Amino acid sequence: MALFSNKFEVKGKLGVISGASQGLGLALAKQLYSQGASLIIISRDDNKLKSACESIRKNACEGMKQFVEYMAADLRDYKSSSAILPLLGKLGIEKIDFLFCCAGSAHPRYFLNMTHEDLEFGLQTNYITCVNLVHLLVKRMIDTNALESCSKQDSAIDDFKKAFRIGAKEPQIRHIVLVSSVVAFYNFIGYAEYGPSKAAIKSFGDSIRQELRPYNVDVHVVFPGNFSSEGYAVENKTKPEACKVIEGSSKPISVDKCAGIIIKGLQHGYMYIFTDFIGWVLESFSLGLDPRQWGIVQVFLALIGAIIGGIVDQIHQVYIQGYFRKEGGFITDEKVSKEKADDTEDAEN
Ligand SMILES: NC(=O)c1ccc[n+]([C@@H]2O[C@H](COP(=O)([O-])OP(=O)(O)OC[C@H]3O[C@@H](n4cnc5c(N)ncnc54)[C@H](OP(=O)(O)O)[C@@H]3O)[C@@H](O)[C@H]2O)c1
Repeated sequence: MALFSNKFEVKGKLGVISGASQGLGLALAKQLYSQGASLIIISRDDNKLKSACESIRKNACEGMKQFVEYMAADLRDYKSSSAILPLLGKLGIEKIDFLFCCAGSAHPRYFLNMTHEDLEFGLQTNYITCVNLVHLLVKRMIDTNALESCSKQDSAIDDFKKAFRIGAKEPQIRHIVLVSSVVAFYNFIGYAEYGPSKAAIKSFGDSIRQELRPYNVDVHVVFPGNFSSEGYAVENKTKPEACKVIEGSSKPISVDKCAGIIIKGLQHGYMYIFTDFIGWVLESFSLGLDPRQWGIVQVFLALIGAIIGGIVDQIHQVYIQGYFRKEGGFITDEKVSKEKADDTEDAEN
């Protein structure tokens, strides 16, 4: 018996990836294409999508008949997003095997400096883009015959076996992969616009996972820590100093490494995927009813989290108090930009 069976085989399969004109979405697209998948990629900018398609095609899998197509749409808008359905029709595609929702962005700032448009933008760009796409495509993913083998006379044991796919021949599973963030477990200063939308993605994933499993669709949520990308560079432009200190000095991993870790996690069949150790630890601290990964160790970490979590939060609060005192009160966006300019100057000297 094989110790490890690949639970995410993409050779010859068809996937849709949002936010794949750059960053994580593009890195995932290249790796999945190199493994033999065909793809439809979505983001807003036509030109960026065209050049993304060209770079993805360079990673073709030998001997495979593959394609990569794109659709430009603002996924915050349900009506524009629904153009995906006629595109599928035009390409003669009835079923989708996997869907990655990567579109999103963070613009950390102090809450007191945010406009209501900023707050709305955060929720729309990170959460609504994801929900719109899943809602439009989910009926192209479910296996409508999956419940056929169930009978009204089935016992609870039969239900248990089916829920955990025990005994029967492994059905063909389709995958929805939602990209959240580690801030879904511990949100902090600067991320009032971003963190709540990522926590909402976790909650959305938990709900539809239960509903879709009987239809042979697995719903995975990814909680990345920092990785280098175009989006990460933009994020750092406005990131306040107090936010950076709480975040810690961890170096971002490369976007290719991040994509590789996510694909490995899917191949292992994990429902929650972390791209660094700290993400896994933070999730363990707030374990609750979440899906497990190294469950026994997580129970001990949950205990440690319950003991030290409150203290860590207090330490952060004291640091923020001291920081605002030193800065002399209200910190405007201009003050943050000046700090950044001074930092760059110091680094250059
Ligand atoms: N980088 C990190 O350290 C980090 C950490 C944790 C989580 N994440 C999450 O990981 C995901 C990918 O991050 P990344 O750093 O790779 O981001 P990125 O480089 O900014 O790429 C974001 C992608 O989303 C697309 N997009 C943005 N808004 C859209 C919209 N309204 N409709 C359609 N497409 C849209 C962008 O293309 P257009 O602008 O052309 O539309 C782009 O292709 C995001 O959800 C992010 O929140 C990132």
